[in-house]
Amino acid sequence: MINVTEPEYELLKQFIEKHCGIVLEKGKEYLIETRLSELAKEVGALSFQDFHFKAKKDQTGHLRDRIIDAMTTNETSWFRDASIWEYIQKNAIPCLIDRMIKGNKVRVWSAAASTGQEAYSLAILFYEALNNRGLLNLLSRIEILGTDISSSAITTARSGQYDTIAVQRGLPQDKKERYFLQNGNQWTLQPDIKKMVSFKEFNLQNTFMGLGQFDLILCRYVTIYFSEPFKRELFAKFSRSLKHSNDMLLLGATESLRGFSDNFEIEYYHNAMINLKR
Ligand SMILES: C[S@@+](CC[C@H](N)C(=O)[O-])C[C@H]1O[C@@H](n2cnc3c(N)ncnc32)[C@H](O)[C@@H]1O
Repeated sequence: MINVTEPEYELLKQFIEKHCGIVLEKGKEYLIETRLSELAKEVGALSFQDFHFKAKKDQTGHLRDRIIDAMTTNETSWFRDASIWEYIQKNAIPCLIDRMIKGNKVRVWSAAASTGQEAYSLAILFYEALNNRGLLNLLSRIEILGTDISSSAITTARSGQYDTIAVQRGLPQDKKERYFLQNGNQWTLQPDIKKMVSFKEFNLQNTFMGLGQFDLILCRYVTIYFSEPFKRELFAKFSRSLKHSNDMLLLGATESLRGFSDNFEIEYYHNAMINLKR
């Protein structure tokens, strides 16, 4: 492992915040050392100063992307946090299905989708709700988009294939049996669910203009890593990306937009915060 000095830590910390918004706090030097040492060695860097120089000089952006990939935490699971998913199932989805019945297209965005479990959890609930009401003919009116800055996470998400450990995290047994095909240690999502979701590499620092408008946005467990000014900017962009007033932005259970945005009305469902566009 290569040791990081204080000035080198500062250089890499600034580089990472500039390119993905993640703020490394003091005392996180070990993250640089454990996550970037191998990559530094691979590109022939003898120190982290040298590594930073190589990353800055790299015109292709390839090394930058690999650094971001290594520094992002892709921790995720199926139906993460029971109350929010109960809310989505009981309140959000029926309301969005009404829009579909009226002939509208419904667009949902999982904005830090990681390896896809959140976006596919949404797809499973939409599929079940439509199936239960005999409305599977409306499937073409729902579009679920999953985006993430991490290219390796997006590759896994697109594959719709998970190992036994990943498929067990949060996925109820009946859904696992119903929506996955097992082949040894690999579980492949059923095509009917997989085709409801598309994935795209996307940095939340970028403009949202090209993405269009959404009826529901989930941005969970990523703003915890961002600076206060970035959170303000991000919540303003999410508000502009929601189609109607009362459309929802759902954050992780440890995240809040209180103090960072006046664009949302906050309601509670059990312990889950529901942010409704004003
Ligand atoms: C902890 S995971 C959360 C996954 C999922 N939303 C959940 O709650 O289970 C955070 C994700 O945010 C992504 N991320 C970090 N910075 C980002 C940025 N600037 N733009 C887009 N995605 C980012 C990471 O790559 C990672 O996959």
